Amino acid sequence: MPKLNENYLNLKASYLFSEIAHRVAAYSEAHPDQKIIRLGIGDVTLPLGASVIKGLHEGVDAMASKETFKGYGPEQGYEFVRDAIVDYYARNGITIHAKEIFISDGAKSDTGNITDLFDRDNVVLIPDPVYPVYVDTNTMNGRNITYINATAENNFLPMPDENLAVDIIYICSPNNPTGAAYNKEQLKVWVDYALKNNAVLLYDSAYECFITDPTLPRSIFEIEGARKCAIEFCSLSKTAGFTGTRCGYTIVPTELEFTASTGAVMNLNAMWNRRQSTKFNGVSYIVQSGAAAAFTEEGMADCKKNIAYYQENAKLLADLMTRKGIRYYGGVNSPYIWLECPNGMESWEFFDYLLNNAQVVGTPGAGFGNNGKYFFRLTSFGSREATLEAIERLEKLL
Ligand code: MLT
Repeated sequence: MPKLNENYLNLKASYLFSEIAHRVAAYSEAHPDQKIIRLGIGDVTLPLGASVIKGLHEGVDAMASKETFKGYGPEQGYEFVRDAIVDYYARNGITIHAKEIFISDGAKSDTGNITDLFDRDNVVLIPDPVYPVYVDTNTMNGRNITYINATAENNFLPMPDENLAVDIIYICSPNNPTGAAYNKEQLKVWVDYALKNNAVLLYDSAYECFITDPTLPRSIFEIEGARKCAIEFCSLSKTAGFTGTRCGYTIVPTELEFTASTGAVMNLNAMWNRRQSTKFNGVSYIVQSGAAAAFTEEGMADCKKNIAYYQENAKLLADLMTRKGIRYYGGVNSPYIWLECPNGMESWEFFDYLLNNAQVVGTPGAGFGNNGKYFFRLTSFGSREATLEAIERLEKLL
């Protein structure tokens, strides 16, 4: 009999968004005439931009002819996409090198897979509430998790104190689910903590494209010292509408290294390269062709139009909260509205209340951690029509 990974016994029965989908499907089956508006999972609704479509078509055409056909590509991603990302960062004043960029099918996979590089005996610091992938993947590995509270009192931006003793730190900014975004001074404190304590920062910047405040950092590599302690994960899911197309990237600086128990120096870029080339065969050429187009100036201009549309949705939802006197966070520099459930309701109770009475789906804060128990997340990624209809229904209900 195989000995199973019993850490799976410590997981919730299903992943948060699978659980929501299941509950919504059950409601829909019982009420086939009701029109449900889904503002739960942060899934985009606008079609891909014209530049990306052109890039995808070019990718398809390349596969159609003997001269340009591609078989296996480099596991790290094609040079042309990595170079396009180098340029994208350079336009934002950040220097990274192509060999530090690894193309993948998205930040969800990479933030989970990165745990391969670390021993089980690490103390992992995860904010509560948080994107559930960080918690679930470390639980699968049987790792010790320490939580740091993100609450209204610290504006959902927890900071390290002198008693903190951890090895691996997850930061997501702008944050999923709360929408809170760290400023440069705050991130500098985290980088200094990591450098001083020989810790590594795993920085998820999947929502960087929603930052409108020019003083806020869009990458951990805007912070001095980060190249020696941080890995950045990003995705085209929200930036370019790739939730279904799938493409993301991870940046592992070549300076990032730690000394092993044997005294050998282990380089995380080399380790990640080894891991990816062993376990991953890369993203399809066609998708990478579309992704490279997204990073051009023209491609980004298309992406920004779609992002502006979602930002307007976020504003419309935020205005509703203001009119209703409901305390909320996010909505600017973020596609998410993180609101306090009205009348002291708990988040799953509020989820059922909205589903049953307005047929609007959101995400219960409890799914992101204990500190989300009385909070609820709405996404701005719906269509304008759906968002406006949800607002009309909630206007009457709340
Ligand atoms: C979310 O709704 O939190 C995200 O869309 C999920 C994801 O990025 O995997």
